[in-house]
Amino acid sequence: MHLAHLRLRDFRNYARLDVDFSPGFHLLLGPNAQGKTNILEAIYLIATLRSFRGVGSAQMVRHGHKGYFVGAEIEGQSSSMVKIYWSARERNLTLNSQPVRRLADYLGILRAVVFCSEDLQLVKGPASRRRRFVDLLLTQTHPAYLGMLRRYAQALRARNALLKQRVLNEAALAGFTSELESAGSEIIRMRAKLIPEFVPFAVAAYLKITGAREEFSVSYQPAVKADFAVELAQSRSRERTMRMTLVGPHRDEVVIAVDGKSALQFASEGQKRSAVIALKMAQAEYLSHLHGSPPVLLIDDVMGELDRGRRAGLLPLLERAHACRGQVFMTATDENWPRELGRELKRWEVSSGELRTAL
Ligand SMILES: Nc1ncnc2c1ncn2[C@@H]1O[C@H](COP(=O)(O)OP(=O)(O)O)[C@@H](O)[C@H]1O
Ligand SMILES: [Mg+2]
Repeated sequence: MHLAHLRLRDFRNYARLDVDFSPGFHLLLGPNAQGKTNILEAIYLIATLRSFRGVGSAQMVRHGHKGYFVGAEIEGQSSSMVKIYWSARERNLTLNSQPVRRLADYLGILRAVVFCSEDLQLVKGPASRRRRFVDLLLTQTHPAYLGMLRRYAQALRARNALLKQRVLNEAALAGFTSELESAGSEIIRMRAKLIPEFVPFAVAAYLKITGAREEFSVSYQPAVKADFAVELAQSRSRERTMRMTLVGPHRDEVVIAVDGKSALQFASEGQKRSAVIALKMAQAEYLSHLHGSPPVLLIDDVMGELDRGRRAGLLPLLERAHACRGQVFMTATDENWPRELGRELKRWEVSSGELRTAL
């Protein structure tokens, strides 16, 4: 699949942009603060309906304007036309001119994997970062998973609100508890199935990046040890004291380890960086493996930050994406881009919210 056309209106620093993209490799070049990352952000938004910068839509509206529009033509087995409009008063998402009613029908139209400096939080940050990574991978492979996550989040919120009240509404609590159990058990089941399938891709990627003498591992540590319903019931008195739900997949951990030791606590900076790139490469490889075509790769500035060894590890992935007529968008400042990428690059100059073909 590839993004054939991108249209932006009042998105970040783009007043209007209409651009065609061929399959293959696109290098977005330009000084800082010109709008390179904003393009990747728009493409990621089309794929996931979120910003990879972790901000809400209001921030993506061009300053002084009411709403943004992001449109795309995507060529896959068939071609799809996506239109996203967002303003404080109106949100609109259409696929081939039809309103999208179920997100499960939409996600999967464009699959993307982003590499950015924020990714380091995947190893260094709290468990929620790793859960989000696993959840994204699950929505990219099982779109119905998103509905389950939402059901769980709603039940959790409602339940926590009840637990905060002075007088407990037992009947309401029981209702949300059973909703929490049913959605939660399904989430646990899917995470437990996905992670072991994903691990070999992560291990192979780590090996490519480091030429490793080290052993890399990723393992799932669910907060629920055996039976969600039983463990919830057991936590009832503690729940009343703490006034929140203490057990469930919202407390899961995904342990990333190098040589059997938690990377979060013990890995060097270099090892953490390798681990993060390995996880992202593995995400791309896993998606290619499942869907038979590579996702669009969005690589924000990171090539410049990598040493030669790690760059060399990432290259085969980029070349493979290229060979399968996938698409790669990579940003770099000035001429600080990896020359070893070869000649078959489409170069773009980004300047003050405009994109021009570079010679
Ligand atoms: N909502 C917005 N409205 C208008 N301009 C914005 C908005 N958000 C960011 N910008 C501008 O976008 C530019 C940064 O774009 P970015 O894509 O991050 O740059 P870079 O080329 O360094 O990747 C800055 O000039 C910033 O002021
Ligand atoms: Mg940038």
